[in-house]
Amino acid sequence: MSKKSVTITNNETGESVELPLLDGSQGPSAVDIEKLYRDMGILTFDPGFVSTASCRSDITFINGEDGILQYRGYPIEQLAEQSHFLETAYLLMYGDLPNEGQLSNFTRIISHHTMLNESLKNFYNGFHYDAHPMAVMVGVVGSLSAFYHDSLDIRDPEHREISAHRMIAKMPTIAAASYKHNIGEPFIYPRNDLSYCGNFLNMMFSTPCEPYEVDPMMEKALNLLFILHMDHEQNASSSTVRLAGSSQANPFACIAAGIASLWGPAHGGANEAVLNMLEGMGNVDNVDQYIARAKDKDDPFRLMGFGHRVYKRYDPRARIIRKMCHDMLERVSPDNEQGPLFELALRLEEIALNDEYFIERQLYPNVDFYSGIIYRAMGIPNNMFTVMFAIARTVGWVSHWMEMMDDPQQRIGRPRQLYRGAVKRDYQSIVER
Ligand code: ACO
Repeated sequence: MSKKSVTITNNETGESVELPLLDGSQGPSAVDIEKLYRDMGILTFDPGFVSTASCRSDITFINGEDGILQYRGYPIEQLAEQSHFLETAYLLMYGDLPNEGQLSNFTRIISHHTMLNESLKNFYNGFHYDAHPMAVMVGVVGSLSAFYHDSLDIRDPEHREISAHRMIAKMPTIAAASYKHNIGEPFIYPRNDLSYCGNFLNMMFSTPCEPYEVDPMMEKALNLLFILHMDHEQNASSSTVRLAGSSQANPFACIAAGIASLWGPAHGGANEAVLNMLEGMGNVDNVDQYIARAKDKDDPFRLMGFGHRVYKRYDPRARIIRKMCHDMLERVSPDNEQGPLFELALRLEEIALNDEYFIERQLYPNVDFYSGIIYRAMGIPNNMFTVMFAIARTVGWVSHWMEMMDDPQQRIGRPRQLYRGAVKRDYQSIVER
């Protein structure tokens, strides 16, 4: 038992149990409650896991009170400013920044796994043209399990690594194809001479009919957004990947589960919800009415893109991309058809930042408020926003999955419950009911 401990006493029976207090390298300590049920016959109750550390992890550190986010100890601000997608992906997966040789090897591996098996393309045809791209993502990523029987032994570290590489490499290709299917254009093959983000933009926006040049500003913006979205410790989708993986499901099935979880508007679906909300508002004259609805406790409406479960003072990612967002909007000419929408977004940001209700509850614009607007300014449609998030978060998902699978203490995740249903009763035949 560690030196520090917490004693829990049952006031009814007087029974006590001493539980070890575990320290991380930074952040709050955690009470190890593993023996609580065995020794005392009671469970802990924490809906939404507000006070529960579900695992040990060395990947990402968040301090919500002070707005700190670090990947493997590196502040997100430094990575956003100085790193690029594949370098940060290597860091998350392997624990340290790569040297030149490691990075060029990693880049070579990722770029040589970008193509999809030609028969995988048939899956897209099963979806109606207007299928939501996230529905396509869940289906197509899950179907990868059926293609790589050669490397699905999850007990083999090499198989795990190659599956992780395949996921990171193929995600942009799968995502861009879901967009092309949506708009009825031919799929564009990946180009290994382009950067990770440049290749994605090319697959999204080029056509076989005319030359397309990747806009460096768009590539830079995407690189930044992808780094910011890469990981966020035990968020809903990463926890979903871990829980799915804890039953020893294959990694593609686990990532498909993560994508499904990301889709919800309280998580990764928020960036799409932000733009849908702005479109619903129409113009700046309606902002006050929406703010009033957000404050009304009888109205379920919430301002999308505001608030965060962990960041209570500010979201450091939002702080980083706010400037990028404003820079992108400056590039959009005032007579652009999106102009009024962007004006609306800036007005909403201004009002919410100064409104007592939002200040009191520490509801600041989160990363999704700005990312949705940047994506829109880049010409990416609303229904692709969460897909963009999924591409970046895949690195976090595979890193968590690999960490979990490497943990000798790993066991199936199986929460308990506080049962509140009917107590034992006897079956009655239908005529007696
Ligand atoms: N608009 C209006 N009021 C809000 C909002 C909002 N966006 N968010 C929280 N509140 C209010 C709640 O009504 C509550 O008020 P009360 O104390 O008077 O009852 C208070 O703020 C606290 O809210 P909780 O729901 O307890 O906060 P929680 O931590 O559970 O939820 C969440 C966080 C889900 C992000 C929430 O703020 C929300 O729904 N935001 C909008 C959706 C969104 O932008 N999600 C993206 C999250 S970031 C990401 O996934 C990358």
